[in-house]
Amino acid sequence: MARAAVVGAGMTKFGVHDKPLQELFAEAALTALEDAGVAPPEIEAFYFGNAMGGQTENDTHLGPKLATHVGMAGIPVQRFEDACATSSNAFKNAVEAVEGGHHDVVLVGGVERCTPKTGKDTAEMTRIFGSASHRQYEQPTGLTFPGVFALFTKRHMHEHGTTERHLAEVAVKNHGNGSLNEKAHFGKSTSVEEVLDSPVVADPFRLMDCCPFSDGASAVVVVSDDLADSYDAAVDVAGVGHGTDIVPLADKETPHVTIAARNAASEAYEQADTTADAIDFAEVHDCFTGAEVLASEALGLVADGEGGPAAADGTTARDGEIPINASGGLKAKGHPIGATGTGQIVELTQQIRGDAGTHQLDGVERGAAHNLGGDAATTIVTVMEGR
Ligand code: COA
Repeated sequence: MARAAVVGAGMTKFGVHDKPLQELFAEAALTALEDAGVAPPEIEAFYFGNAMGGQTENDTHLGPKLATHVGMAGIPVQRFEDACATSSNAFKNAVEAVEGGHHDVVLVGGVERCTPKTGKDTAEMTRIFGSASHRQYEQPTGLTFPGVFALFTKRHMHEHGTTERHLAEVAVKNHGNGSLNEKAHFGKSTSVEEVLDSPVVADPFRLMDCCPFSDGASAVVVVSDDLADSYDAAVDVAGVGHGTDIVPLADKETPHVTIAARNAASEAYEQADTTADAIDFAEVHDCFTGAEVLASEALGLVADGEGGPAAADGTTARDGEIPINASGGLKAKGHPIGATGTGQIVELTQQIRGDAGTHQLDGVERGAAHNLGGDAATTIVTVMEGR
């Protein structure tokens, strides 16, 4: 018996958009509803993710506005904010609500605009993103998120001998994958040389090791296990684990190990009655190339210390033993914060159904999504499988 099922999925292209927030969201939500064959009045509740609208849009009460915009006015709406793990947390709560019998058919979605179309440049957006770090101990030092993940990665390099070339191989793989995905922010491949020649952002990360600022939206329709068989293409939600870790990062004993991800993965695998070995593919939170290395190890998809070599030797390639970020990941598909978590759920749903179009993987039945927020402080891991 599954905890719940996803019966409809939709997303905008991630990238640079001229549309206001509600129109971006509507594009994803109405696609998900149409995919499920569900009309807006059939949705019983809306679980919504947006991390930074207060700072980026001067818009702090988006839930009912977006529900109204897509024809769902009047239903219960809850907004979630968990830095980059925002809409995964909305998804987790939606799964619990249908599993607990509170609702049978719900919409989960996220939207965010992070590009200069908001009127905010890279410096201002970096400051806004930085508000997810520790207010007293980290923000006053000027620590940014490229800096946070550079510190984690430096420690990993020290412990395991991971190299800048290994990191570059992650970027090459994910840009190659993104070039096959029409919804990806970046449609171009790159090379190790191009990555290693790009300007340093936060040592060891260069421009090509970083995810971009993106605009975008994503949404899924979640139904109870009992109802799932009455939909055409249901994909089961077998497990959703949720862990948090110490903030500030200076107090973490093993910053390269990402404890929250390990705890979330164990919980998700236990619920799904599965193990890392039985996962066919994964979407992990590669906001920076080093973050993919840490995540693939934390989920047990590769051994500790092997995350870098796994990208270099093809283990995590589309046709490798365990394809990671076949969508292009945050690195190339893009990272519109509040839309990223449900964007990964859209990807898992489409891959398992065999609906991923030009970037479809061969024969995948069970996938994992890993979405983190802040100083790897919140992590949600989801396991989905064919029904
Ligand atoms: N990867 C690859 N190319 C990128 C890129 C990225 N992350 N960001 C920008 N580019 C490209 C642009 O397309 C542009 O190419 P063009 O000249 O061919 O048009 C060029 O690089 C310059 O773009 P620009 O927007 O001026 O870059 P920038 O210097 O303002 O910003 C970063 C680059 C890496 C600093 C910025 O994208 C960043 O901070 N990313 C991390 C975001 C983040 O922290 N997210 C949260 C994670 S937890």
